[in-house]
Amino acid sequence: MKSLIERWRGRLPVTGRTPVVSLGEGGTPLIRADRLARAAGLPPGSVHLKFEGTNPTGSFKDRGMTLAVSKALEAGSRGVLCASTGNTAASAAAYAAKAGLRCVVFLPRGAVARGKLMQAAAHGAEIVDVAGNFDAALRTALRTAERKGLTVVNSSNPFRIEGQKTAAFEVAEAMGRAPDFQFMPVGNAGNITAYWKGYKELGGGRPRIMGFQAAGAAPLVLGHPVKAPRTVATAIRIGDPYSRDGALAARDESGGAIGSVTDSQILAAYRFLAREEGVFCEPASAAGVAGLLKLCRSGRKPRGTVVCVLTGHGLKDPDTAARCIPLRRSRL
Ligand code: F0G
Repeated sequence: MKSLIERWRGRLPVTGRTPVVSLGEGGTPLIRADRLARAAGLPPGSVHLKFEGTNPTGSFKDRGMTLAVSKALEAGSRGVLCASTGNTAASAAAYAAKAGLRCVVFLPRGAVARGKLMQAAAHGAEIVDVAGNFDAALRTALRTAERKGLTVVNSSNPFRIEGQKTAAFEVAEAMGRAPDFQFMPVGNAGNITAYWKGYKELGGGRPRIMGFQAAGAAPLVLGHPVKAPRTVATAIRIGDPYSRDGALAARDESGGAIGSVTDSQILAAYRFLAREEGVFCEPASAAGVAGLLKLCRSGRKPRGTVVCVLTGHGLKDPDTAARCIPLRRSRL
């Protein structure tokens, strides 16, 4: 299969001299989800899941990382650095390993799912434990990068957004046109910014973008930063999103909304997707689906086609799975 950069070369800021660092990212499935549609009270065939868990490191971050690391290599960078709730770190570590670059990751202490931590470690990343949340880790990381001359591969790096916008191209290609609505989780707000950029660049129809934050970490809903964000969905436990303006623009320009869902709504959607649709995503990924169910149950049903973006794989966070999913013992 072609690398994401080869596949979308004409729409990405690369030249013939850019060394392509790829692990086979992108080309993720768009899965019809009729049980979810039924649970939401929507017609069969109207709801699809864009499952990003099939990317090489198990999350959508690989789309942006292939470009960010390729461009870092092209620029002669000595290494890459990021702050992360886990997935960015896992992805940066893998692509840096492939490129032969140094990788340093700043992680909020005790708040990164085990699978992600093990991935970063396995790929040889140097880990800095930050006593504080993701927002503190990001501030420290950005300061350190400047001092040490390392390339930041958080979504403050525009190449990350450029790579991630390709997911919108894939959705529109698979459906023959853009969906009417797109539901997705929002954390640091890079991905919602990237999708909206992608849909706009395609021209033609555009979805209303429906972003969902966890209720305990919902700065974009509240309209101010949250000092101590709290949620079971550690990937989106973020109180002061870097790409806040991009998220608000996606919401306002698309005629969409940014809402919040409780941890119990997130976990219910997480279990439903695994049990009823056969798709095991991580808790944060289920926030968009939780948002869809919440809206539909309150009588505000979207009309037309709906895509829910499932950003990462359920295996990333085995501890939450063990805590929240009952083992069914056989009575055979
Ligand atoms: N879903 C998953 C699985 C994530 O890992 C993230 C972000 C999001 C959704 C939200 O995306 O930040 O672009 O709004 N994870 C980042 C990380 C923060 O460090 O891995 P966003």
